[in-house]
Amino acid sequence: MGIGLKAVGLHKHYGGVAAVAGVDLAVDPGEIRAVIGPNGAGKSTLFDLVSGWVPPDRGRVFLGEREITGWPARRLARTGLGRSFQRSNTFAGLDVLENVLTAVLVQRGRAWNPWRPLGRYSDERERALTVLAEVGLADKAGRLVRELAYGDQKRLDIAIALAGQPGMLLLDEPLAGLAAAERQPILGIVRRLARDQGTTVLFTEHDIDSVLATAERITVMHQGGVLAEGTPAEVSADPRVRSAFLGEEGPG
Ligand SMILES: Nc1ncnc2c1ncn2[C@@H]1O[C@H](COP(=O)(O)OP(=O)(O)OP(=O)(O)O)[C@@H](O)[C@H]1O
Ligand SMILES: [Mg+2]
Repeated sequence: MGIGLKAVGLHKHYGGVAAVAGVDLAVDPGEIRAVIGPNGAGKSTLFDLVSGWVPPDRGRVFLGEREITGWPARRLARTGLGRSFQRSNTFAGLDVLENVLTAVLVQRGRAWNPWRPLGRYSDERERALTVLAEVGLADKAGRLVRELAYGDQKRLDIAIALAGQPGMLLLDEPLAGLAAAERQPILGIVRRLARDQGTTVLFTEHDIDSVLATAERITVMHQGGVLAEGTPAEVSADPRVRSAFLGEEGPG
């Protein structure tokens, strides 16, 4: 039940900065796609544009067959697009289950009344517990978020993005700040979602080894544009990609 994503001619300027400058992107249903590129390349802005957080200056976005250009993030979340943010957006003073339950309720257009017993939200609670099991946090449902280990915070970010059972999942640096040994289990979550549920995954990441080991295709961004795209083997052999990452001047 993965959903494909297509963007055509996306542009977004911030003042004099062309954060995204004419990006075309097509992600197939069920694909695991990485977007890589140096700091400031426009990766997070691209996510903002396709997930409805920021309207594009120009260009069009399609989720599956439907044009979604200009749709607000909430409506998109209900249409099957889930996303996580580069900076975590959890409630530190709530526990893990409450954070995911809140996301499930928001996703379903319902408000959370803290005075209403949690047991009353049995359907939403069940969804939240399912999601926690998917990211390996079932045994930490009652922990306060501020007391979680960093790796578990990153799992929770993914759980929140999964609240609405998205067919298209965008993860902005799901591995940031994690030691090498902690990255594997998170990448395992991504692979399982794609394999078992057919979820389409689009993620950004700076650790190139993780990208090469997980993504089926890679889109390389540089200065707001797409510099290269292809399989891990194609992209890692591309001299333009190497020079962009090493900050060298290309041959022409
Ligand atoms: N809300 C904003 N206001 C002004 N400028 C912005 C805003 N968001 C992004 N930019 C600028 O747009 C450019 C692209 O930023 P973006 O965050 O998309 O890059 P990125 O590829 O995600 O980088 P990183 O790898 O550091 O996360 C940068 O020059 C950034 O300063
Ligand atoms: Mg970013």
